Amino acid sequence: MATSIPVQMLSIALFLCGIYSHRQSVPRVYLTLKGLMETRTSRPFNFAFNTSDYRILLMDQDQDRLYVGTREYVVALDLQNINKEPLIIHWPASHRRQNECRMAGKGRYGECANYICLIEPWNRTHLYVCGTGAYSPVCTFINRGWRSEEYLFHLVPGKVESGKGKCPYDPKQENMAALVNGNLYAGMHVDFMGTDAALFRTLGNRPAVRTEQHDSRWLNDPVFLHARMIPDGFERNDDKLYFFFREKSLDSSSGHTIYSRIGRVCLNDDGGQRSLVNKWSTFLKARLICSVPGDDGVETYFDELRDVFIQPAQDEKNPVIYAVFSTSGSVFKGSAVCVYSMADIRTVFNGPFAHKEGHNYQWTPYAGKMPYPRPGTCPGGTFTPGIRTTKDFSDEVVNFIRTHPLMYNSVYPINRRPLVVRTNVDYKFTTIAVDLVDAVDGRYEVLFLGTDHGTVQKVIVLPKSDKELEELTLEEVAVFKSPVAVKTMKISSKRQQLYVSSDIGVTQLTLHRCSVYGKACADCCLARDPYCAWDGESCSSYTPTSKRRSRRQDIKHGDPLRQCRGYNAKVEKRLKETEQYGVEGSTVFLECQPRSPQASVKWLIQKHSSSRRKMVKRENPVLKTGHGILLKSVDKEDSGIYHCVSTENNFKHTVARVNLRILDREVVDAVSGDLAFPANSQSDKELYGWTSISQQKDLLHLIGQPEIQVINQYCENYWQQLNRAHRPKRTSDASSDLLKSLRTN
Ligand SMILES: *[C@@H]1O[C@H](CO)[C@@H](O)[C@H](O)[C@H]1NC(C)=O
Ligand SMILES: *[C@@H]1O[C@H](CO)[C@@H](O)[C@H](O)[C@H]1NC(C)=O
Repeated sequence: MATSIPVQMLSIALFLCGIYSHRQSVPRVYLTLKGLMETRTSRPFNFAFNTSDYRILLMDQDQDRLYVGTREYVVALDLQNINKEPLIIHWPASHRRQNECRMAGKGRYGECANYICLIEPWNRTHLYVCGTGAYSPVCTFINRGWRSEEYLFHLVPGKVESGKGKCPYDPKQENMAALVNGNLYAGMHVDFMGTDAALFRTLGNRPAVRTEQHDSRWLNDPVFLHARMIPDGFERNDDKLYFFFREKSLDSSSGHTIYSRIGRVCLNDDGGQRSLVNKWSTFLKARLICSVPGDDGVETYFDELRDVFIQPAQDEKNPVIYAVFSTSGSVFKGSAVCVYSMADIRTVFNGPFAHKEGHNYQWTPYAGKMPYPRPGTCPGGTFTPGIRTTKDFSDEVVNFIRTHPLMYNSVYPINRRPLVVRTNVDYKFTTIAVDLVDAVDGRYEVLFLGTDHGTVQKVIVLPKSDKELEELTLEEVAVFKSPVAVKTMKISSKRQQLYVSSDIGVTQLTLHRCSVYGKACADCCLARDPYCAWDGESCSSYTPTSKRRSRRQDIKHGDPLRQCRGYNAKVEKRLKETEQYGVEGSTVFLECQPRSPQASVKWLIQKHSSSRRKMVKRENPVLKTGHGILLKSVDKEDSGIYHCVSTENNFKHTVARVNLRILDREVVDAVSGDLAFPANSQSDKELYGWTSISQQKDLLHLIGQPEIQVINQYCENYWQQLNRAHRPKRTSDASSDLLKSLRTN
C-alpha cells in the first residue's frame, strides 16, 4: 500500500508519528491502552467507587487472591479475572478523626482519610491490615475465611489497635513491612511530623525494638522500600530480615546526595541490656552500587533505589536480588537495573566495618580490636551456640554496633555492571518484576519494568559476546488511561499474569501477546520473545510441555533464515505490488514501515521488471522518514519499481514493492486547468511543486484509473493509523526538522 499524499497532510502525519531512531531500547512493539485492550490480553479493574492511591500489597496464591489497598478501601481480587466478583471493604477514618486531622493543619492534599498501607497474612483465616487513619495510623484484622469460595471478607469488629510503628502518618510517604513468625517488622516515619524514621518490630511474643533514634549514622531521612526474611543457613537462630532503602548521604563532599542501602537485623534480636535497650543490637547496613563507566572513564551512578524484586531460588538462602535505580538530581535522567547475589551481599557484611575517627576524617576500614561475638552475629546461631539472647552480648559488642552500623565495602552488582541501562530518555523506571521462562534454547529471565509514564516495558538481556550484553525491549504497553507513575507490580508465573497499580487504578495483563509480532514465521522469530513461537500458522504462546506441532523459536540468535527455512519466500511472493502516480516536478512519498523499529530500511529501484535492482540514486533530494521516503521534484527518470528492503539481525526481506509512474507535467496542467491551491500560499506551491488532492482525483479520472476510492480510503486509513499507533511527544522535533530541511533543500 503506497500512494502520493499531499505535503500538508504529510507534515501533519510526520508530526503525529515522527521519525524513529534505531536505538536498541526502542520497543519492538508499542501499544497504547486502546491497542492493548484490542489484543484482549489485559483487563483494567473497572469497579466504580470513590477512591485513589491503589497499591497491590499482597498476592495470595493459596486463595488465588490479590489484596489491594486504596484510599478508604481494602479490595480482594480474583487472580484470574480481577473484575470477577471483587470483595470490597470500606474502611474510612471516623468523622471525628478527620476533623482532628484538619484541626492539626492537614488535609490540603486529601491526607485526612484512611489510606491502606499494609496488608499481611496473619493466619490461615485472617489478614492483618493497617491504614494511615487520617494522620493517626490504625490496624485491625480482616476475616477472609478458609477458602475463597466462601466469599468471606470483612473487618473483625472491635479489634482496632494503634498503627504506630507499623504505618506512616503521611500517606505520601513510602513504607515497608514483613510479618514473620507473628512479629511485624516495618520501616516508616513513626511520628506526626515525619522526622523520625525507624525500623520497628511490633506484635508477637518478642519485645518491641526499633532503630536508635535521631542518630544519622543509622538512618538519615530514609525511604524504606522492601523487607524480606532471608535465612543465612540451616540454623533458624541465624535468620535475618534483609531490607532495602535509600537515604541522604552524610558527607555531601562525596558528590552523592543519596545512597542506596541494604540493611539487616537478626530476627531474634531483643535489644541490648545496658545500652541499646529496646533498640536493634544487630543492625548493619551496606551501600548498594549500580553504576556504569562512561566513554570518558567517568562513572555514572544510579544512586536512587526505586524498587526491589526478589527472585526465589532452589536454595532458599540464595535468592537473586533485582533492583531498579534512577539517577538523582536533575542533571540527567536515567534508570538502570542491577542484579545482586546473596553471596556478594554476605561477603560485604562479613567484611570490614566503616570507621571514622572524627567529623573531618575519611571513612576507613575499622582496623582495631574486634569484640566477640563479631557485631551483627545472631545469638544462638551456628557460631554462637552458647549465647542465648542479644541481652547477653558484652557492652563492647553493643557499643561497637551502635557506632559502626555501616560496612566499609559496598555491594556491587553481578558482573559489576547493570543488566539494563537507560539514559537520555524522558521516563524513569519505578518498579520491577521478573519471570523465568523456559524456551526451546534455554531459560531466560524476562524483566517487566514499570515507568513513571504509566507504561510497562518487557525486556530480555542476551549475551552478545564474551563481554557485551544485548538488551532487547520486546514491547512497551500503556496500562493506564493517563501517563501516571506505576506504583506497585506483582507477577504470577503460574497464572501468566502481571498486575500493575498506580494512583488511578489496577490493571492485569498477560505476560505475552504473541500475535502482535505478526503472522509470518520471520516476524515471530525476529521478535525473540521467549514466551512465543511460530506454530506453523501463527505466532503463539510457547509452553515446553505442550505436545503441539513442531515449534520454531530462536531467542539466542533470532535467525529466520535458519528457523523459517521454506516459509520466507512464500511471504515475499504474497507481497502485492502497488501502483503509484507522481506528476513531474511534484514530491512523491513512498510508504514502507517495517514491523520493527530495530530494522534498517534500504530502497532499491528497478527500471524495468527484467532489469537489476539498484540503490536509489537521483539528483534531487531523497528524504528518509520512519515511514518511507520522500522523492522531491520527481521526473521521468524516477519511474520504476521501488523495493523497500528491511534488514534486521542480518535477515533481509522485501516489505513493500511500489510501481511508480511519472505523469507528464504539461499534460496534467493542460487537463486540470488552474485549479486553486487549497490552503497553501503561492510560495509553498513553488516550493513543493505539488498537486492538490482534487487535482489528483481529476487527473486519475481523466486517465481512467479506478483508484480514487482506494486513495481516499487509503489516506483516511493512513491518517487514522498514525493517530493510533504513535505517541506524538518525543517526535515533534524530528518532524519539524524534516519540514525545515524540506524547505531549505
Ligand atoms: C470522594 O472522597 C473524597 C475523600 O474522602 C471526598 O472528599 C469526596 O467528597 C468524595 N466524592 C464523592 C463524589 O463522594
Ligand atoms: C486467626 O487470627 C484471628 C485473630 O487473632 C483469630 O480470631 C482466629 O481464631 C485465628 N484463626 C486461626 C485458624 O488460627
